[in-house]
Amino acid sequence: MSPNPSDETSAPGSVDPYGEDIYTEPEASPDTLANLGPLAPMAGIWEGVKGTDVHPVVGGTEQDVFVEHYELQPIDPQTNGPQLFYGLRYHTHIVKPGEVETFHDQVGYWLWEPAAKMVTLSLTIPRAQVVLASGPATADATEFEVRATFGSAIRGIVSNPFLDRSFRTTSFRMRVVTGPDGTWSYEEETVLEIPGRDAPFSHLDHNSLSRIGPPTPNPLAPTGGATTRPGT
Ligand code: HEM
Repeated sequence: MSPNPSDETSAPGSVDPYGEDIYTEPEASPDTLANLGPLAPMAGIWEGVKGTDVHPVVGGTEQDVFVEHYELQPIDPQTNGPQLFYGLRYHTHIVKPGEVETFHDQVGYWLWEPAAKMVTLSLTIPRAQVVLASGPATADATEFEVRATFGSAIRGIVSNPFLDRSFRTTSFRMRVVTGPDGTWSYEEETVLEIPGRDAPFSHLDHNSLSRIGPPTPNPLAPTGGATTRPGT
């Protein structure tokens, strides 16, 4: 499949709010936990014991239940010139119930960009595959969705050569719902093109997570301990 140029211009957030000066940095608050917008309820350590996964197997589909440990910790504010992000560094580790072996592992950042009212997810999985997905949100949103499409230069998917020919990921979307009661949940769809199948495969994952531990304040936060660690 070739890149779809229309994706670059029609997607929300493709026009940024920053103007001509690409060097001057804004004032950032050192207190990330107080500035995470719609990501604020997700900070901390989480567990979900009733995840569901639908993935491809030879000649068909398999469904599994999984147990997930999802940790999201605040990082110091990050700038690209005038662009400012507050964010959470995350790691999720998934096993099948009662097993030790990793079923799925994923690391990355959830970022909130207040000026653009945009949530961005950078996602890396050890199949040698990366995704940068984003979507619009308001600071007080309790639901938001991030998307990425194969071929896009700004919200895209890149896979290693074997995956690219055998299980090409053509799109990714993840919908998050946060609750006031120490829970959040997600539904995610990873669409795969698999040789020999007449339709794209919808690899689906869902889980509801409950808080099992608080976040650790970012290094620059008033209660964070360290005095200066820019770039952390
Ligand atoms: C809760 C999240 C996820 C779980 C539990 C999960 C689990 C699985 C499982 C069990 C397979 C079958 C193949 C195997 O066992 O090696 C698979 C295949 C695959 N997954 Fe996921 N996955 C998740 C999320 C994702 C995400 C977010 C992506 C990429 C954006 C992704 C990309 C793929 C690809 C490309 C394959 C095909 C490769 C193959 O079948 O060998 N998965 N996944």
